[in-house]
Amino acid sequence: MRAPGKVNLSLRVGRREADGYHALATVFQAVSLYEEVVARPSTELRVTVSGPQADLVPTDMTNLALRAASLLAAHAGVDDAVHLHLHKGVPVAGGMAGGSADAAAALVACDALWGTAVPREELADLAAELGSDVPFPLAGHTAIGTGRGHLLAPVLSRGEYHWVFAVRTEGLSTARVFEAFDDLVAGAARLEPEADRALMQALRAADAYALGRAMHNDLQHAALELLPALAEPLAVATGAGALGVLVSGSGPTVAALARNRQHALVIATALTAAGVADQVMTAAGPVAGARIVAEPRGPDGADDSRPS
Ligand code: C5P
Repeated sequence: MRAPGKVNLSLRVGRREADGYHALATVFQAVSLYEEVVARPSTELRVTVSGPQADLVPTDMTNLALRAASLLAAHAGVDDAVHLHLHKGVPVAGGMAGGSADAAAALVACDALWGTAVPREELADLAAELGSDVPFPLAGHTAIGTGRGHLLAPVLSRGEYHWVFAVRTEGLSTARVFEAFDDLVAGAARLEPEADRALMQALRAADAYALGRAMHNDLQHAALELLPALAEPLAVATGAGALGVLVSGSGPTVAALARNRQHALVIATALTAAGVADQVMTAAGPVAGARIVAEPRGPDGADDSRPS
């Protein structure tokens, strides 16, 4: 199984509701950084992890992919176990929904392995129970997320967009960033946030320049309060001519939109040379959601995927 990471092209945040969550209006784009999940029959429920930041991922029952497997087993009434192996291609705790992509892939993988044939809509409901960001990597492409971010509607998007991601080893807790947001807006947030019209128009028109101008993240100030050094990759990417630059989701990954693939490499080189990120990655979007791939990735880590 393979499931993509995401970038929030726009993230509008409303007030905290009685259930502790904020009403959101966000536009997600799935990008070509992938989590790969292999599900094998096993006598016990367990998870192993590989990839550059594997040591940062828990392997106990707090692991979202394990929780996905046990939620599906309970839902479908099976008592099968599974060994899940996660290969991390999406930055860990970076605001790009890598853990959510693992959970989405685990749902589809276990459903196939156990032959439970749970309809996709039911898998989406289980995904929403696991976390606000889990339904999107199941769906992929481009979508508006409302509610907690988990109610999805597809968005018409033309063209291919090229990204550079400045990744930090030190993660940011989503819950902490939302708390900092509450402190900053002090009750003045909108009741019902709305997705940006200019941004939707840019996606329809395949206009990367207009998209760059329309990109917005209401959580960016909060992320910068918690991690002021994030101003550096934002400034370097802007200086390298990025069409738009923002903190991805709740951060700390910084996403920069490039004019094309070559320009993405120019921005990536500038970020690396300035030493303002622990890792710099390029990707393109939008791409498809969680799906079974014929062949697992080779040992060299080569990725021959093409954006959809
Ligand atoms: O849904 P998930 O478990 O991924 O959310 C993590 C935390 O982020 C929540 O516990 C909550 O504090 C915060 N959050 C929020 N509003 C949202 C989504 C997440 O306040 N819409």
